[in-house]
Amino acid sequence: SVPLTVGELAKRLKKEPSEIIKKLMLLGIMANINQEVDMDAITLIAEEYGVEVEQKVEVDETEFEQIEEQDDPDQLQERPPVVTVMGHVDHGKTTLLDAIRHTNVTAQEAGGITQHIGAYQVEYEQKKITFLDTPGHEAFTTMRARGAQVTDIAIIVVAADDGVMPQTREAINHAQAAKVPIIVAINKMDKPEANPEKVKQELMELNLVPEEWGGDTIFVPISALKGEGLDELMEMVLLVAEMEELKANPDRLATGTVIEAKLDKGKGPVATVLVQNGTLRVGDPIVVGNTFGRVRAMTNDNGQRIKEAGPSTPVEIIGLQDVPQAGDQFKVFEDEKKARAIAEARAEKQKQKELAQTQRVSLEELFQQI
Ligand code: GTP
Ligand code: MG
Repeated sequence: SVPLTVGELAKRLKKEPSEIIKKLMLLGIMANINQEVDMDAITLIAEEYGVEVEQKVEVDETEFEQIEEQDDPDQLQERPPVVTVMGHVDHGKTTLLDAIRHTNVTAQEAGGITQHIGAYQVEYEQKKITFLDTPGHEAFTTMRARGAQVTDIAIIVVAADDGVMPQTREAINHAQAAKVPIIVAINKMDKPEANPEKVKQELMELNLVPEEWGGDTIFVPISALKGEGLDELMEMVLLVAEMEELKANPDRLATGTVIEAKLDKGKGPVATVLVQNGTLRVGDPIVVGNTFGRVRAMTNDNGQRIKEAGPSTPVEIIGLQDVPQAGDQFKVFEDEKKARAIAEARAEKQKQKELAQTQRVSLEELFQQI
């Protein structure tokens, strides 16, 4: 670290301190062995010995995790709610989002099973709403947990002909653990075997009591396939969002979470991120988990190139050095050097942690063998 004492500098250059002191004198700097020399002098002296000095940016990598100083209440503005759709496999989550977006994602999915988190933004009654679709298949527990953590509201979809199933329970647990308000959508009401009363009874046992039975959980009967009950569902989403008073400060450097990430052959690392505070812009130096980069391009959920993305917006970004992990936090920094140094420090820390873990494991193994 800078500054160094004359003695330290001599050691690094593998020279006698007296020699360094002479060189400094020629530069007009009178110094003894314990005196500190600044970066400029170090660079000049090192150059004389053919050593190039690389200036390392000193950073405090915990700056990444530090809770931001509170936003000035005057700067806070209303932001769109982030709504995660969760529930058991095949209960109609993606069909519901298709109907809300008037597109047809389900038809394009392999085997009709969602294997990732889809992120979309729609506009209803001039209000934007961000939706995250999650997989219902039992293999995707972490994705559901992650979905619940970044969301403001959870819509639990339960098929009226099937009732509460294991991943319905799991999804409710995630939402409750994340203290997120729940709206229940009883789906497939068009089916002759639909039994919404049975669904309500089953959910009562999980402490989700409908308003008409004296509770405070909103239930909306829908048919995602026929597009029925969607207006009421959207109204309820906006109502709950309004009660939550969701706010963010668009006039600051962006922070948020990685929804999913992959390596694209042509584009390199691609990450879908949710901006949670601030505004993300093309060109921003960014730390994402243990990697970093500069936002080279941003694409919205309609595949359009955009230049900036405000709070609650899901966007795909390219320009990262590495593929981050879903669930990683991201944070924009004012300069790229700092972003790089922080990411490197974080990666190093992670490496040490993993190393410590493997060392401990092998020690335990050793004891077991004795
Ligand atoms: P995963 O993503 O795998 O968890 O499934 P999902 O919950 O997204 O279910 P998806 O939307 O893929 O729908 C599963 C099947 O249920 C499809 O064949 C849909 O057409 C059908 N389906 C969805 N909603 C309705 C509905 O309201 N009525 C009827 N009759 N069928 C529906
Ligand atoms: Mg789906």
